[in-house]
Amino acid sequence: MGLVDVSRLPQHVAIIMDGNGRWAQARGKPRTAGHERGADAVRATMRAARRLGVPALTLYAFSEQNWERPQVEINALVDLLCECLISERDELVDNEIRLAAIGRLHKLPTRAQSKLDALMRETESLDGMTLTLALSYGGREEIVDAARELARRTRDGAIDPEDIDERSMDALLPSMNVGPVDLLVRTGGEQRISNFLLWGSAYAEFVFTDELWPDFGANSLYSAIAAYQARERRFGLVPGAEAHGGAVSSRDELERAI
Ligand code: IPE
Ligand code: IPE
Ligand code: MG
Repeated sequence: MGLVDVSRLPQHVAIIMDGNGRWAQARGKPRTAGHERGADAVRATMRAARRLGVPALTLYAFSEQNWERPQVEINALVDLLCECLISERDELVDNEIRLAAIGRLHKLPTRAQSKLDALMRETESLDGMTLTLALSYGGREEIVDAARELARRTRDGAIDPEDIDERSMDALLPSMNVGPVDLLVRTGGEQRISNFLLWGSAYAEFVFTDELWPDFGANSLYSAIAAYQARERRFGLVPGAEAHGGAVSSRDELERAI
């Protein structure tokens, strides 16, 4: 924690929680054992982010493409989600964490949907941190859904195509409710985005770690944030530049400055 400057925290941290299967395989266990331990890492990371004061944490829990995995693994993941939505209720409420979800949630089995809805409703007024679960989520799918909605509104005469800009997209992308991603972490050693927050990661800083997700915890989060804080974000400007009279630390600030 000493490594982290709490006055310059990323406002939105997003994590691709990868490596559960390999964690289990390395121990001669079924992949589902890795997912179970992964849930412990979620709890530890969520606590650490909340304690630091990170306003928004988005976790990639299940991709739209993950539906192609073996049915037994999908069932185990859904069961685990259902269990966590019950077991973590007090943790969220006691720590004033608002739960949100993004993705094609209607594809989840109803038992998961109903627990998710109930906990989102119960925590909707909490403002200590927003924890967003990306479930049945795909970045391209999210953009397609927004494009479809813009097309509908244009067809109905509610908007003029010429008026469509980045902000129109921001408003229609559920992942943008907590703003663009400042820090995107991927565990498990792969260096790819795997259809995560494509729009919101436009100017995110990426931190890749070989640590497998079940091994991730508070110290891993602190290291990732320290790496983020050691970077210079330029948003297309020249090194050390000031945007019309002020150094910028976020895209919003940049937009206000120009
Ligand atoms: C991430 O771990 C969890 C999900 C995608 C649901 P993986 O299950 O992808 O683990 P590896 O990458 O196979 O080790
Ligand atoms: C990304 O991990 C999805 C989640 C962490 C939920 P994957 O394991 O599905 O990604 P690929 O297949 O390595 O790209
Ligand atoms: Mg994986």
